[in-house]
Amino acid sequence: MEVKIFNNEQEIGEAMGQVLVDYAKANPKAVMGFATGMSPVPTYNKMVSEYEKGNVSFKDVTTFNLDEYCDLPKEDKNSFYMFMVDNLFGRADFSDDNINFLDGNVEDPEAESARYAEAIKNAGGIDIQILGIGTNGHIGFNEPADEFTDEAFKVKLTESTIASNQKFFGDVPMPRYAMTMGIGSIMRAKKIVFVATGEGKADAVKGMIEGEVTPKCPASILQQHDDVTIFIDKAAASKLSK
Ligand code: GLP
Repeated sequence: MEVKIFNNEQEIGEAMGQVLVDYAKANPKAVMGFATGMSPVPTYNKMVSEYEKGNVSFKDVTTFNLDEYCDLPKEDKNSFYMFMVDNLFGRADFSDDNINFLDGNVEDPEAESARYAEAIKNAGGIDIQILGIGTNGHIGFNEPADEFTDEAFKVKLTESTIASNQKFFGDVPMPRYAMTMGIGSIMRAKKIVFVATGEGKADAVKGMIEGEVTPKCPASILQQHDDVTIFIDKAAASKLSK
């Protein structure tokens, strides 16, 4: 793991956004894995600003998002699909035909998992995967568990995740289930760029980088990936031993 520590989230957005811009310039048909959450937003802003300057195009980039809520229409303002449209896809030249999401409203989650796995395989695998982390160490929606998962599956969200994400839904109770890429599907990405900011993530970041590799801290599996770059601010890095 290569760990890069920055002063603030704007600096992270500039640096991590540039990595993605450079990747798309060198590989116009790249397959990119995207994450939701507030942490990658400065990165997405940088990608948009470089697109607006005419420095990069994403029209031939294929995208796969990590996860999506169940029991929420795709067009709901709180769906992860709409989050990506609002923060990235709708602000640059991504092609609708190249955007892939898990469907959280299917009757048969196993068939949906197989469909997504097949789509990723047919695209040639994920070249570069963006990841954030939950305060409990989750990546995607792989909550702390007894075993590492492999392909996508339907997950019951933990109370800590619900406590973190309810704010986006205001007074409306947020979904209790989601479809998420599994740990195996994330680990098969050729390159991973990870972002976390703020003191609230410091314990999860420490577990991920310095802790035992355990499904109790799902992000710790990243220690076993051979191309991970960690972009964190000083607050998120504050509990690291060095
Ligand atoms: C979300 C997503 C994760 C994300 C995490 C942290 O619910 N499923 O992919 O990394 O929670 O979000 P944030 O960046 O807003 O703290």
